[in-house]
Amino acid sequence: MRRPILAANWKMQKVTGEAESFVRAFLPLLKSASGVDVVIAPPFTALERVGTALRGSEIALAAQNVNAEEGGAFTGEIAPGMLVDLGCGYAIVGHSERRTLYGETNQGVAAKAAALLAHQIRPIVCVGESLEERESERTFAVISSQIEESLSEVPRDRSAEIVVAYEPIWAIGTGRTATPEMAQEVHAMIREQLRQRFGEAGGEIRIQYGGSVKPENVRDLMAQTDIDGALVGGASLEPESFAKIVRFDEQGGP
Ligand code: 13P
Repeated sequence: MRRPILAANWKMQKVTGEAESFVRAFLPLLKSASGVDVVIAPPFTALERVGTALRGSEIALAAQNVNAEEGGAFTGEIAPGMLVDLGCGYAIVGHSERRTLYGETNQGVAAKAAALLAHQIRPIVCVGESLEERESERTFAVISSQIEESLSEVPRDRSAEIVVAYEPIWAIGTGRTATPEMAQEVHAMIREQLRQRFGEAGGEIRIQYGGSVKPENVRDLMAQTDIDGALVGGASLEPESFAKIVRFDEQGGP
């Protein structure tokens, strides 16, 4: 059984005080949320403060990026060991904003994922097609090469530790969600590829959907066979909204 994983990606938002206030308001809302993994990825500057506020809870701390090097002359970068030091259990790598705005490549993402695993941090590896790629019917080809190349350095016996996030670029921050069926179609394709690459263990890898996930649509997305979680941007910035997403299972009726 794949345990659902709901993750908040705050991107470049929230100063330390705001981040801590979120956690203080969020924790009491979660009382009955069990059976799911909850992850919060604040900006680097708020990792320590959020980590401290989360202490004693089961919520995991995540970084939004990492450098694959161990350390050295890399001005402005953050090494995996620094994330370990702050208690990060996960790190997002290869988010489409990093791929498109900062030129990250599949090879670079693969190196980051490997570096994270070497430090016992679980990588959340993001993939996704652009609108142009979807409209020219290249979605499967694009996602397939992103998966193959970005996971090329993940050893078979560590595959259960990774999380894949499928985030169609055209659905991010646009309010335009993929329909559950559209998302499932791509998730099923990714699942098949993970099985081919990792064997049985590929069936255990969790695949999150991301792109305008909200309290109103999370339940239908999560009902799909191969959707095991959500990576949430905008709707994770308010405690009430993210709590509703985490507690998707309790939503009765429409
Ligand atoms: P939104 O939920 O704001 O569309 O962002 C999705 C995302 O990019 C999460 O990583």
